[in-house]
Amino acid sequence: MNRGVFVAFEGIDASGKSTVAKIIAERFDATFTIEPGGTPLGVELRKWLLDADTPMKPESEALLMLADRSHHVFELIEPTLAAGKHIVADRYYASTLAYQGYGRGLNLAELRAATDLAIGPTLPDLTILIDLSVEAANERRQRDTKDRFESADENFHERVRQGYLEMAATASEKWVVIDGAGTVDEVVARVQQELLLLPWNRD
Ligand code: TYD
Repeated sequence: MNRGVFVAFEGIDASGKSTVAKIIAERFDATFTIEPGGTPLGVELRKWLLDADTPMKPESEALLMLADRSHHVFELIEPTLAAGKHIVADRYYASTLAYQGYGRGLNLAELRAATDLAIGPTLPDLTILIDLSVEAANERRQRDTKDRFESADENFHERVRQGYLEMAATASEKWVVIDGAGTVDEVVARVQQELLLLPWNRD
């Protein structure tokens, strides 16, 4: 049995990555999943992680994100890939490095080591960064109530964006940066172009 293909989508809040990731998952017959919150345990963790009324140290935030991910890999991602089915994940390990590392300022080397512990050898075949300026993302945002991350200041989101771009430029794994400006159809077409290079049908 061939292993499934694993694609992770990354980007700042309101970059449009969730909308695009869902469409891509359907087109490539992949299981769509999210972080935090891709398992029943993760749904519980997500409630606390996004609750702006529960003050939390960046370290606690990072460790809960990693607990979510570790369990997600064990319960859903690995078994799905091993069964030959594809995975499209809305956020994966790079979110922790971007938000808790570049954004909150936690030590990146320590965070990478902790992330490795959480995911083991399960790396995406491709990470797609949907890149959009913080200004453009703010214009797209519709919700009135803001979660823990949405209520962080603009500098935080700028650091997260720059962190993503730095990782995309330096990672040893495969990343592509997609311009997130324009319509959903335009962005989906850009992503699809890149994905055609992956081995979706290996029989
Ligand atoms: P997401 O579900 O993409 O946001 P939403 O559906 O609200 O648009 O992600 C939730 C938030 O969690 C997002 O602001 C980014 C943050 N996050 C981290 O800070 N670190 C992580 O490791 C992950 C997975 C998410």
